This record gives sequence, structure tokens and C-alpha cells, in this order.
Amino acid sequence: MQQYLSIKDIDDLGSCVQEAIDLKAHPRKHRNLGADKTLCLLFFNNSLRTRLSTQKAALHLGMDVIVMNFGSEGWQLEFGDGTVMDRGTSEHIKEAAKVVSQYADIVAIRAFAQLLDKEQDQAEVVLQGFAKHATIPVVNMESSVGHPLQALADAITLSEQCTIKKPKVVLSWAPHPKALPHAVANSFVEMMQRQQAEFVIAHPKGYDLDPAITQGATITYDQDAALKDADFVYVKNWSSFNHYGEVLNQDPHWKMTLEKLGAAKFMHCLPVRRNVIVTDDVLDSPQSLVIEQANNRTYAAQIVLKKILEHI
Ligand code: CP
Repeated sequence: MQQYLSIKDIDDLGSCVQEAIDLKAHPRKHRNLGADKTLCLLFFNNSLRTRLSTQKAALHLGMDVIVMNFGSEGWQLEFGDGTVMDRGTSEHIKEAAKVVSQYADIVAIRAFAQLLDKEQDQAEVVLQGFAKHATIPVVNMESSVGHPLQALADAITLSEQCTIKKPKVVLSWAPHPKALPHAVANSFVEMMQRQQAEFVIAHPKGYDLDPAITQGATITYDQDAALKDADFVYVKNWSSFNHYGEVLNQDPHWKMTLEKLGAAKFMHCLPVRRNVIVTDDVLDSPQSLVIEQANNRTYAAQIVLKKILEHI
């Protein structure tokens, strides 16, 4: 693997998931693969799981890790070509990406959607800026469009937990007081389109995801119908894509409850707002897979780093 910008960088998802499950059983089996190699993590946004699980994955492979909260501690970056930099930005991505490439062998970037300018977010300017100008492989730790490490962890969790050949998996929108990005939902959809599953997306009117991503997927505005006979229910909020970044609906009826969940397993990427997105009794029940999803973030990152290390 040359880089990991989206789930599309995985050729064979099924075998990648199986390799990650094998790594989980023997996490330090390849402890020398990353010797004398450095992973640099650059965070333009907050994190708990991504930061710690990616570090842990690199340590399992024997890598050194350096971390920077670029969003709060770095120079403000300029991405435009030919910009006269006489305003807020202090350093151009062209220099920043090449400088980081001197200090590390792989760079991983977290830079969320700002939800102000759809065109700019869709272009993933930070991630793609590093991908263009860095001279080392780039890993996406959540960009404005996708969260492929989360989606890979979710694929691992589904594979471990599923006992039938073709489960019914529902991605169900939930209310949230703030406008949230589409990245987790986008990557989950892209991952599910490569699974043997009956996959349904449920959300209120006005919350259609990017049609280029959901192309061919079953989409409904009827949550009850979607949840019928579900085996796995992945709950997530996202803001409107068409009315870009707007909160159009906070209907609490879309919140997940034990009654609505039925016998299905509950999934969420975390962090989650209790009793807004989902009730306490769901999260505290054995049907909740959220802690195992977070655990699998380590092995998702580890298989990606392993495949990149084998390539460089
Ligand atoms: N799910 C996830 O990416 O968690 P963090 O934002 O805490 O990294």
C-alpha cells in the first residue's frame, strides 16, 4: 500500500480485515518491521481514539512516533497557489509538507471539514495538500470527506461479530445540537458497499449524503421500516449536505432506544452524546459494540501501517 487516503486504497477488504484480526491475536509479531522508522501524527482537530490507537499500532510495529497538535500549535497554513501571503497564513503547504517529510517516514493527518465552504471541504485541501507535496506516504486520520481508519475498524468489528452470511446493516441518522461532518458516514457507506450485506441508510428529509458516495444504496426516510429485522445498527449524526453544514432537524424521535434497536447490535464511532444520539440503556447493554469498535481502531491502523511499511 502506497498511502491510505480512503478505503479505496485497500484492494481486497476481506483479506485486509482477516489480516487485522490475525494481528489482533499477535499484535507484536512484526515488532521489528518499523525499526528505525518514524510516524508523524499531525492533528488539526481533537482526538482520543485516533491519537492513542494509531500511536499504539505504530509502537506494536516498532516505530518511533512524533505527534503535533498542528491546529493549535503550528503555523497557519496556506494552500492556495500563487497567494500573496500578506494576511493570516504564515507557512505554505509546499514547504510544510516537505519539511515534515524530512522528519518522518509516514505522516498521518487529521483535518475535519469546516462545514463553511462545500467546495473547499470536498477538495480535502489539508489531506490532499500533504498528499501532493509530501515525499512520504500519507495516512488519513479523518479528513473533510472520509474517516477510513474508522471504517476499517468497523469492518473488523462486523466481521468478528457477525454470525450469518448476509446481515442486515442499517446506518441511521440521529439528532445532534451541533453541525457535524459527513466523514464517518461517508466512509461507512463506502465500506458497506464492499460487504456481503443488506445495507440500508435511514435519515430525515434534507439529510441525503453526497449522492456520488451513496450511489446504488437503499435510502429511506422511514427509520422504523429500516430497523425491521436489522442485525447491526450504526447510528451517526451528520449535518445537511445539500444545505451545506446546516442543522435542519433535531427531532428526538430519531434517537436510538433499546425498543427501536430490538435484537440488533449497536454501533457508533464515539465520542457519543448520551441520551441525545442514543439512550444510556443501549450504550450500557451487551448489545453495544462501541468499546470493541474503539479497540479495533488499533488493529485497523496497524494493518494499514504494516502494509505501507512493507512498501517503503
Ligand atoms: N472515532 C474517532 O475518530 O474518535 P476520536 O475523534 O476520539 O479520534
